[in-house]
Order: sequence, then structure tokens, then C-alpha cells
Amino acid sequence: MATIPAQADLHECPVVESRAVGAYRLVSFVAPAIAEAARPGQFVMVRQVGPALDPLLPRPMGIHDIDSDLVKVLIEPVGKGTLYLSRAKVGDRFSVLGPLGNGFDTEGTGPALIIGGGVGAAPLALLAGRLLEQGRKVRCLLGFKTRVQAVVSELFSEVDLDVCTEDGTMGRRAVVSELLAGCLEDLGPDAAGAQIFACGPDAMLKAVTEAAGRCGADAQVSVAAHMACGVGACQGCVVKVAGEYRRACSEGPVFPAEEPEW
Ligand SMILES: Cc1cc2nc3c(=O)[nH]c(=O)nc-3n(C[C@H](O)[C@H](O)[C@H](O)COP(=O)(O)OP(=O)(O)OC[C@H]3O[C@@H](n4cnc5c(N)ncnc54)[C@H](O)[C@@H]3O)c2cc1C
Ligand code: FES
Repeated sequence: MATIPAQADLHECPVVESRAVGAYRLVSFVAPAIAEAARPGQFVMVRQVGPALDPLLPRPMGIHDIDSDLVKVLIEPVGKGTLYLSRAKVGDRFSVLGPLGNGFDTEGTGPALIIGGGVGAAPLALLAGRLLEQGRKVRCLLGFKTRVQAVVSELFSEVDLDVCTEDGTMGRRAVVSELLAGCLEDLGPDAAGAQIFACGPDAMLKAVTEAAGRCGADAQVSVAAHMACGVGACQGCVVKVAGEYRRACSEGPVFPAEEPEW
């Protein structure tokens, strides 16, 4: 029987900021307990408070950043649930369960390489910030289809950042795994001591895993799965990991890169 993780709770949170960042919506809400407890790579299950019953289920959103009592999420409207959330206005209220999931393991001393693809970049700002606070050398590589998504990289102003787009409209014309290959090459023998953190589409995570394997670097990937409960109760989010079905919400979403079976 699943239980809600000890530090997670259901909160009703006022929205205090909602603005477009290219193709995404940056929404900040007041959630002191989540802001206090959250680790990079964790997520929240979010639903708008209101009379509408549809969409009924909350949607998983990575914790993009934390500023004092505020928790920030970056929403890409792709369907009914995210469209609804992305229309949030200041003064609206979100029902938020979290923080959930295991998050990234940030123990380590070597150079940190952060790789994000599309909206997978969302949870990586908090990660980059925490790694910088630990005094780590951090390089962040973000890849997008086109400029209207890539402008979100402006939210990563404090890190050593490289951006690419598939159509060349912002940054280099490339896919982000090509940037990673170049970066690992630059590190030379130090690449084996690097720690790679990745979040994005499966094809990107697979390419990151292969690149890390070739140079012997430690890598963690945050996998995407459809989620209904977010706390390990419904089995709706299972992914095949190291030969077993595991719940991405409660046993992930972050796994050692070599474990998920793509
Ligand atoms: C741990 C985690 C963190 C996430 N963080 C963010 C975030 O920070 N910002 C953000 O915008 N989105 C994030 N997502 C994805 C987001 O939750 C889904 O896009 C959303 O649930 C889709 O709901 P919908 O009703 O808008 O679309 P639906 O109508 O349910 O689906 C629209 C389309 O998106 C696809 N889709 C739905 N869910 C997923 C998913 N989990 N992965 C890949 N494709 C999906 C569907 O197959 C369909 O093609 C995250 C997902 C997970 C599991
Ligand atoms: S979403 Fe219900 S078990 Fe993971």
C-alpha cells in the first residue's frame, strides 16, 4: 500500500506570478513548506482550485526554481491539463501535492554537466543553483526545437550555458547530445570524473547515457511518464528499469542512467 512521502503534503497555494516565457508559462505560487523541503529534480502534482471538475487529475510539474517562500513551475501547454494550468492568473489558487519523487543525487566533487531538452529544462535551474551553492563547476547544455522554446534559457542566467536549436534560430544548430559530446571531448581524461544530470525526451536521455558510458562518467536521468496519483498508489507511471517495472513517481523520476530500458 502506497503512502504519501513523509515530507509531502497537499497545499492550497496562491498564484503570485504568471508570465509567458516564449512558448512556456512561468507560474510562481506561495508554498513555504514545499520551498523549504524540495530537492532538485523533485516534482509537484498541480491542479487549479475552482468549480471545474475537468481536468480532474492534477498534472506533474518539475520544480523549476525556489525563491524564498515561492515555488516556480514552467508549463508547456500540450493538452487540456497543461493548457488550463498555463492560463493561471495572479490571485488564482493551485492545489499542490509535494514535493514528490527522489530528485537528483548531488553528492560529488567533479565537474557537473547539466543537459536539458525542451521542457525537460524546467527542473534544471534549481539543480544548477544548488550545485553552484556547493561550489561545483557547472556547465549547462540546453537543446530546443526552435527559438520560441529556447528563449527559456534566459532563466538560466547564472550558469555557464550553451544553447542549441534544431533549426538554428537560437544558439548553435544542433541537438543537445552533440553539445554534450563536444563538452566531454573538451574535458579529456577529466570526463570520467564528471557527473551528468539529464532531463528531456527519451531519445535525448538514451544518447546522454551512451555518451556517459563511453567516457565512464556518472550520469542520472529524469524520466517522463504519465502520472495520475504521483505517490506510488496507481501504478500508472511504471517504467522498465534494470529488468523490473518501477514507479517513476515514487521510485524515480531520477534513475542511474544505465538502468532505464528505452
Ligand atoms: C516528473 C515529471 C515532471 C514534469 N515536469 C513538467 C514541467 O515542469 N513542465 C511541463 O510543462 N510539463 C512537465 N511534465 C509533463 C506534464 O506533466 C505533461 O505534459 C502533462 O501531464 C500533460 O497533461 P495534459 O492534460 O496537458 O496533456 P494530455 O492531453 O494528457 O497529453 C498531451 C500530449 O502530451 C503527452 N504527454 C502527457 N504526459 C506526458 C509525459 N509525462 N511525458 C511525455 N509526454 C506526455 C501525451 O501523450 C499527449 O501526446 C512533467 C512530467 C513528469 C512525469
Ligand atoms: S502516478 Fe500513481 S503510481 Fe505513479
